[in-house]
Amino acid sequence: MTESGQAQKYMKIRLHSLPPVQAIPFDLFVQIGGRRVHYLRAGDKLKAEKIVNFEKKAPEAFYILSADRSRYQNFVRESLVSDTLDTKQKALILRESTMVLVEELFERPDIEVALHDARQVVEDFVAFMESDASAMANLIGLSSHDFYTYNHSLDVSIYSLGLGQAVGFRHADLKELGLGGLFHDIGKRHVPIEIICKNGALTDAEWLQMQKHPQFGLMILNEHNSSENIKACAFEHHESFLGNGYPQKLSAQEIHAMARVVSVADTYDALTTKRSYNEPMMPLDAIALMSGKLAGRYDPEVLRALVEIFQRLKNAA
Ligand SMILES: [Fe+2]
Ligand SMILES: [Fe+2]
Repeated sequence: MTESGQAQKYMKIRLHSLPPVQAIPFDLFVQIGGRRVHYLRAGDKLKAEKIVNFEKKAPEAFYILSADRSRYQNFVRESLVSDTLDTKQKALILRESTMVLVEELFERPDIEVALHDARQVVEDFVAFMESDASAMANLIGLSSHDFYTYNHSLDVSIYSLGLGQAVGFRHADLKELGLGGLFHDIGKRHVPIEIICKNGALTDAEWLQMQKHPQFGLMILNEHNSSENIKACAFEHHESFLGNGYPQKLSAQEIHAMARVVSVADTYDALTTKRSYNEPMMPLDAIALMSGKLAGRYDPEVLRALVEIFQRLKNAA
């Protein structure tokens, strides 16, 4: 079978998206020397020690048959309501199971399936948040501080949900907001990877290219019939409350309410995440900068919510 045939037959999943206590209802494979090899038969349990051993050998992923995709998704969903797992374990499963989907959003030529599955995933995030008061703190605790567009997208989605809940968005709007956060940078699919991963400051020409990602995002989401809310998050998340953002130089209430939330989540994540050319800021330093020198750029209500959330997390810790 060709490599692309292999890629279609198998789907990558992350190690920690599987709870180590239950029988796994699908076959698991690993990749050895370019070939997928059977690792576990459906019905067997994945022992915690096995995962630890496996991790030491470095592969970050298992593979399942693409035909088992919905079986895997249902299994993850059932874990989220299991009595035997605590909130922290559930947060990890939810996050890790979503990472592969976000990778697909940025790397697969065809994003139809990933766009479709994202709806269910965000629904799962919202349900998890609403069912458990400590869910958001656990999800935020797992935020990764490595800057890959897909980690960033997931973290922006999670922060947007936390902020959205704090400023009073209702259930249906939270789902839209979570998707808006997840897709906000989807236009980066059309920006050359050398620019996205450049080690150092961008030239003027590269910067102009980079600044096109909101338009590209709008274009992609238009092609896939996304809602106006989700499109606004992609198109308007670099607008500034002061009117000096891009691409439209909208100001204050002209900016879509959800894009104003994503904008705060986006900056916070960018500041606290390591990039090739700078060290991450500590959360409280990032918040001080955003509510000090940069304050004029953001919706004051959303900014207040950000300060409160982290104050609460700090007190809880
Ligand atoms: Fe962006
Ligand atoms: Fe972003």
